[in-house]
Amino acid sequence: MTDQYSLKSPRGETVLPWIQASEGPGALDIRKIYEKQGVFTYDPGFASTSSCKSAITFIDGEHGILRYRGYPIDELAEKSTFLEVAYLLLHGELPTKEQLEGFVHSITYHSMVHESLKTFFQGFHYDAHPMAMLTAGVGSLSAFYPRSINIYDRQEQQVFAQRIIAKLPTIAACAYKHSVGQPFVYPRNDLDYCSNLLYMMFAVPCENYEVDEVTARALDMLFILHADHEQNASTSTVRLAGSSGTNPYAAIAAGIACLWGPSHGGANEAVIHMLEEIGDRSQIKKYIDKAKDKSDNFRLMGFGHRVYKNYDPRATVIRKMCHKVLQRLGKENDPLFELAIELEQIALNDPYFQEKKLYPNVDFYSGIIYQALGLRPSIFTVMFAIARCVGWVAHWQEMVNDPDHRIGRPRQIYTGAQQRQYVPLEQRDTKASPD
Ligand code: SDX
Repeated sequence: MTDQYSLKSPRGETVLPWIQASEGPGALDIRKIYEKQGVFTYDPGFASTSSCKSAITFIDGEHGILRYRGYPIDELAEKSTFLEVAYLLLHGELPTKEQLEGFVHSITYHSMVHESLKTFFQGFHYDAHPMAMLTAGVGSLSAFYPRSINIYDRQEQQVFAQRIIAKLPTIAACAYKHSVGQPFVYPRNDLDYCSNLLYMMFAVPCENYEVDEVTARALDMLFILHADHEQNASTSTVRLAGSSGTNPYAAIAAGIACLWGPSHGGANEAVIHMLEEIGDRSQIKKYIDKAKDKSDNFRLMGFGHRVYKNYDPRATVIRKMCHKVLQRLGKENDPLFELAIELEQIALNDPYFQEKKLYPNVDFYSGIIYQALGLRPSIFTVMFAIARCVGWVAHWQEMVNDPDHRIGRPRQIYTGAQQRQYVPLEQRDTKASPD
């Protein structure tokens, strides 16, 4: 049993019911505070605010724990596959052999996109960022599938889930091919999910292309690690957009747009640009000092996390994988990887990073692997989006099926002008105050 929580004020005492979690912190139910006390709560980054109840992913930031539906992330990364993890996140249980085969078959046989999407991509400028094209491409799916607006129908939800998971790699590959000026490549039904993505990105009509199986397995593991992460900014965006009842493809497009930011999924691209800017180990101290300088808005990209105040468990797995992939590809002396290792060691031993509990996060090493796999930085966050789409869909489904869910509509603390009368133009002060 827990202590009774209540709020006392001149308006009287309001008991705040306790909501027990199955693991991790419980919550005070503050839904009646405004009605009873006439006040709001204030938490601009939502660091102390739970927006929903969820049974999908559990994170313990103090102990560096991440579990999907109760299964530890390192076990899933080692023993599972991305599509099996996708099934687990969507349905809550690991699939039987038959369920997995049916799910994989459905995803494989829905990987083609409407042919007119090709002309859609040809409308982009040659140097359009792949994330801009992915956001637009996914948003346009709501024009191809208007029937998916029956969002409370469980069958429709499944159709939407399998369609978007199946088609996102194809749309991503179109964005990549457009950015390198090469013809689009159709998906193949004889390839697994990640091999198909690599094939669509790197095959060319002029010669046969064999997918490297170590590269495909590394990508599959990276996708498992990136599949979900409870209420991160992009997942919260999908939930908020979806809470209005909008077409779910539009809600996913909103999540892609949010993920693109350098404080979130865009960090993997920003890490590579940062390492290239640092250049070599002699410059590390200068950049560490910049990251600590409050007057400088430079931040060490790939470091820090809102929830993890310990090592990000995904970074641990990716760091090990980095070594293996670079060795396998004969790039173990990759200068960026060596610089990253050196930077990490110096930062982890610096009092500033220690007292603020800033550790490498999932984005610190993933970019180095993507680069070693032959991907260019502008496509790194697209990779993140393909993986995270599974989490976005799982949370969207959980939200629309939650009897507690309502349209998300936060309040504010108003700090603007109080009531004043309109002033006709000719009576206004000619020297208007600057903005
Ligand atoms: C992802 O939420 C998720 O789960 C996200 C994610 C997922 O899987 O969905 O895990 C994926 O987005 C990982 C994060 C990728 N972003 C970066 O690597 C960008 C660099 N990191 C930061 O900008 C920052 O750490 C955030 C955005 C990740 C977290 O920001 P918070 O929680 O709002 O923390 P903060 O900005 O308030 O920082 C706390 C303090 C500040 O100093 P003080 O004002 O207290 O003096 O730590 C400092 C910050 O200045 N700080 C950093 C820093 N990160 C925080 N200083 C230098 N370099 C950094 N990277």
